Amino acid sequence: MIRTIFWKNRSVVMIDQNALPQTECRIVCTDYRQVIAAIRNLAVRGAPAIGVAAAMGAALGALALPPQPTKAFREKFHSICDEIAAARPTARNLFWALERMKKRLDEVIRAGKSNPTAVLAQEARRICAEDIAINRQMGRQGSVLLSDGDQVLTHCNAGALATAGYGTALGVIRAAHAGGKKLHVYVDETRPVLQGARLTAWEMKKEKIPATLICDNMAGSLMHQGKIDKVIVGADRIAANGDTANKIGTYPLAVLARVHRIPFYIAAPVSTFDFSIKTGEEIPIEERRDDEVTAFRGVPAAPKGIKVYNPAFDVTPARLITAIVTEKGILAPPLPAAISRLQKGRI
Ligand code: MRU
Repeated sequence: MIRTIFWKNRSVVMIDQNALPQTECRIVCTDYRQVIAAIRNLAVRGAPAIGVAAAMGAALGALALPPQPTKAFREKFHSICDEIAAARPTARNLFWALERMKKRLDEVIRAGKSNPTAVLAQEARRICAEDIAINRQMGRQGSVLLSDGDQVLTHCNAGALATAGYGTALGVIRAAHAGGKKLHVYVDETRPVLQGARLTAWEMKKEKIPATLICDNMAGSLMHQGKIDKVIVGADRIAANGDTANKIGTYPLAVLARVHRIPFYIAAPVSTFDFSIKTGEEIPIEERRDDEVTAFRGVPAAPKGIKVYNPAFDVTPARLITAIVTEKGILAPPLPAAISRLQKGRI
């Protein structure tokens, strides 16, 4: 199994996703600031993986704090969490994981335990292990949506690399494939950073799941030719009404899927839902550096000085989503009602 990120001897070890697919190497972070840098520069990316990295980064930060009174320790830990929270704005899992770490610290303080750092490191490891289990569960839940012989389109990387392991949307594909269904996956290259070409294609090859790489602008034509049966993607944040932020280029796929009457599925853990915001309009969309668009790995692809717009995510309105796969079950429209049941633990 691909282990994207794990905790080892007071350090966070992660696959360097910027080096893939050419080189499989790992980054070892011993300081929480290195984790922040890895999140910012996309060495670790994908909403659930960012959440795990954030939790482990917070645990590293706590380990480096000198012994001090509880109140001061709590304040310092919160300020480390605030720094980590500023790494990227869109993925809900980042904030979810930090909130969970802060809550755990408060429990430890209330219980009067003497060594909060050990408990925080344990909590971060638990978040990591749970993520893999959740993805496997999501895979089992979602695999019923895929049929033998399906041609499935996916965008960006919602695989093992975007999580602690196994994946969300690719987890569903993995589970269906492991269950004996013959699938063929079309992989959108996913400009500008090519998470599809570099990472999803790498995962598909590694697992020997039949796949074909396409440029983003080819999806419509393939749908028109009847070559796509289903679309499945991950999510970075899902609002209470079901509007879903995911990698830029997801929304046009949902529009195309609707026009061609193709089911459009999202796969995401409960930690990606932001029950506090009503619609996708409230989701902060990260804008990234110009050179992601004007160049690729240092090779210029546009004239110097051209104006650039580089949002990393777009929002797909709930009405274009056929269903959302979670570890708790499959949410079908009307999504606001289904998400409200999910929040209340009734699913
Ligand atoms: O900018 P990235 O690579 O972090 O964006 C990742 C995505 O948009 C994924 O599709 C999303 O996080 C789902 S991952 C299971």
